[in-house]
Amino acid sequence: MLRTFVLVFVLATALVGTTSLLGQERGAAPLTQILDDLKKAYDANDREKMGQLLKDMSESAQRFERGIGGRARGMGPGGGPPMRGGIAPSTFDSPPVPKTDDDKKILGVLDDMYSNQSRGMMNVSPADGRLLRLLTEAAGAKHVVEIGTSNGYSGIWFCLALRTTGGKLTTHEIDARRASLARENFKRAGVAEIVTLVEGDAHETVKNIKQPIDVLFLDADKEGYIDYFNKLLPIVRPGGLILAHNTSGQAGAMQDYIKAVTTNPDLETVFQNTQGEGIGVTLKKR
Ligand SMILES: C[S@@+](CC[C@H](N)C(=O)[O-])C[C@H]1O[C@@H](n2cnc3c(N)ncnc32)[C@H](O)[C@@H]1O
Repeated sequence: MLRTFVLVFVLATALVGTTSLLGQERGAAPLTQILDDLKKAYDANDREKMGQLLKDMSESAQRFERGIGGRARGMGPGGGPPMRGGIAPSTFDSPPVPKTDDDKKILGVLDDMYSNQSRGMMNVSPADGRLLRLLTEAAGAKHVVEIGTSNGYSGIWFCLALRTTGGKLTTHEIDARRASLARENFKRAGVAEIVTLVEGDAHETVKNIKQPIDVLFLDADKEGYIDYFNKLLPIVRPGGLILAHNTSGQAGAMQDYIKAVTTNPDLETVFQNTQGEGIGVTLKKR
């Protein structure tokens, strides 16, 4: 552990030169702050805190490498070369344009959450959030089930779509502190009335879901995806979607899930945003 700490400390100190850049990254704590916290955790011999901070640093570094929205530095969207087809990459990065005042308010809350609350929350990237919203709205979803609420960031992206389709979100979270933050965030985004937050171990609580699912989003324990999939596939409606997060970064922990969705003739699966965290998009064929 001591060797790891010294190595991280040296690397981090070297990186401090880029702190201004990293500090500008939306959603990331400035590196100097993480470094300071790391020193304190080391002095207090708080191994759990040190582990969390190392994870934060690793996430920060990965985001910095990719750039916000999951694009590799110096690359065009989807990993292509810059100026592909003569269009500047910045065009592809254009932010969502709100259609109504409510949209504007919700996007503002999402922006604030990503800038000020995402540390330790393991939220999807804004690019992934936009994809979740788009797929949900295009599917005309009436019932989205999310496994892994955290503080409600991805849930609010779903709600942007569900306000339009007249649908509802059922979201599952095991951690009471994150669940409580999520409740606050759903309220301030004005979407609380279309959200049911179920607290507890989702491997158990999903057994109570009776209403057909139009979009299922898996974003909790990666090894558990196969269990959620096996339990919920029967109530995903034909034509519905199963979206699985982190299919690029954490594929190793969900091999059985990936095999299941790529070999079943009742399903069609593609993998999106593979330069970022990755989202497996599976259609349950009609
Ligand atoms: C990656 S985070 C979810 C991020 C969230 N979807 C977002 O983008 O804003 C994973 C969450 O799943 C929760 N979780 C892990 N295992 C769980 C389980 N068995 N049941 C319910 N929630 C679980 C964790 O507490 C954590 O908050």
